[in-house]
Amino acid sequence: MNRREFIKGAIVLTVAAYVSPTIVFGAENLRWWQKKPVYQIYPKSFLDTTGSGTGDLRGVTRKLDYIKSLGVGAIWLTPFYESPMIDNGYDIANYTAIDPRFGTMADFEELVAEAKARDIKIIVDLVFNHSSDKHPWFIESKSSRDNPKADWYIWRDEKTNWRGIFGGSAWQWCEERGQYYLHTFATAQPDLNWENPAVRQALYDAANFWLDKGAGGFRIDAIVYIKKPAKFLDGTPDAPDGTCAVHNMIANTDGILDFLREFKREVFDGKDIFTVAEANSVKPEELPAWVGSRGIFNTLFEFSHVNIMFKNGDEVWHHSHPIRLSEFKKTLSDSQAATRDSWYPIYFENHDRARSVNIYFPSSADKKLAAKALATILFTLRGTPFIYQGEELGYENAAFKSIDDYDDISSRGQYNLARADGLSDKEAMRFVQKFSRDNARTPMQWDSSKNAGFTSGKPWLPVHDDFKTCNVSIEERDGDSVLNFYRRLSALRNSSDVLISGDYAELYPNNEELYIYTRTLGGKKIIVAVNFTTHDVKLPAKIFDGMKKILGNYADEKNYLRATEAVIYGN
Ligand code: GLC
Repeated sequence: MNRREFIKGAIVLTVAAYVSPTIVFGAENLRWWQKKPVYQIYPKSFLDTTGSGTGDLRGVTRKLDYIKSLGVGAIWLTPFYESPMIDNGYDIANYTAIDPRFGTMADFEELVAEAKARDIKIIVDLVFNHSSDKHPWFIESKSSRDNPKADWYIWRDEKTNWRGIFGGSAWQWCEERGQYYLHTFATAQPDLNWENPAVRQALYDAANFWLDKGAGGFRIDAIVYIKKPAKFLDGTPDAPDGTCAVHNMIANTDGILDFLREFKREVFDGKDIFTVAEANSVKPEELPAWVGSRGIFNTLFEFSHVNIMFKNGDEVWHHSHPIRLSEFKKTLSDSQAATRDSWYPIYFENHDRARSVNIYFPSSADKKLAAKALATILFTLRGTPFIYQGEELGYENAAFKSIDDYDDISSRGQYNLARADGLSDKEAMRFVQKFSRDNARTPMQWDSSKNAGFTSGKPWLPVHDDFKTCNVSIEERDGDSVLNFYRRLSALRNSSDVLISGDYAELYPNNEELYIYTRTLGGKKIIVAVNFTTHDVKLPAKIFDGMKKILGNYADEKNYLRATEAVIYGN
């Protein structure tokens, strides 16, 4: 080979390394966070070891063997930092201290060490768009217009008509300073001013603090809101008619990537960590700048499938629409296509979502079959499955009777919005019961004893009244339980190159009853088919010919799919 041919060859290889998913993500190059699922824990509701009624870090440590039994490689812990808990820890008063309700720094260190002994990493949550209004930075900032932290938050003389994500105005008047401050979320969550380099440095320092403590990576909260549009800084325009949601005005605006590139340089670069950003409104075509080898994060949570019932970013619960299966499938297929060269976090639930069996299946569907059917998809799309505590037991929504029974600040905001729009209490409650984030936050059900074994005290949120029939202890002993189905699926996915790395292709996208797709790698092929109805449905073709059933939520097999049936076939 002469010099010219050598250089040409080197260029071809370099380009291929950028564009080819098989080179970047071939089985031999997989990173640890691609090989196993992540288990998400809401510590406040997981296990209380002190009788306070609130879960704690020691509770997580105590249940590590249970978590390990799901085949997971990492745990994502929602915030456990010092906080007044207006938004259950997403309002942080000290970024580097553990809230005493959750334990001590020693407890965190023990958790990291015990998890490490089981080959599990701990991913912590970074809430950097806003702090608590009780954070010393804000207390100083609001004290005058010329204190050293005067511009650490976003202050204006005039307010706009923007509606905050939790309802009400996105601006709050501060008597002390004689100005308004911006809060994308609750009044108690003032937005930090990322234009100020000292703010950014303080946040990077906090992130690095947790890496030094042994964290294996980050889930990065609400990151799309950190950059307020330039036009916003020179004035405060009212939103166009009917779209006065702050989300539509500031999410993912020009210049945000400059901040994020700096964030990456200062915190992520050169470290073997996992980063997953919460990025509602990043579009599929923008993904290359956000994730993967040329992006910022390893992957990101986008919302297209979980917000499918809301149009145009209008996440008002009483404006929700029924879900068409073809639309739901399209969101999943589009995300699969958009992350072919990078990576996708597969999820149906988290601490902000209602229970998935109540969302994606008809209300008459058998919930156990439905939970297994969704799990089948969770573990067989391409990406890292995220299991949210309780999902693996097939939890259903817990419908509390009165709005006063709800703790979640967004449920109260949505209820008030519905009432202001003329809905009766009963109508408004129907939406709260369906979409409330408290559906995901009721205490974990460990056994049939008092308070489901979650606490010996009074639980901070009522335990779901089905706990005597749906809990870990019962499901451990039942070979056919949702829990044991999760374990089988996880073991299957973790040992299958096709399921981890294979290409995804959807079949029959317009079919409104079945979701069918293939995963292929070399000559190996897997077909997944799920019936989203509550009746028998004929298969559109003999798609399973020459293949063997690997797993399904019915024990036997038929040449059609029964109500809520999910199957995995392989060659
Ligand atoms: C994210 C969190 C949510 C929180 C909000 C404000 O969306 O997941 O729980 O309320 O940010 O921090």
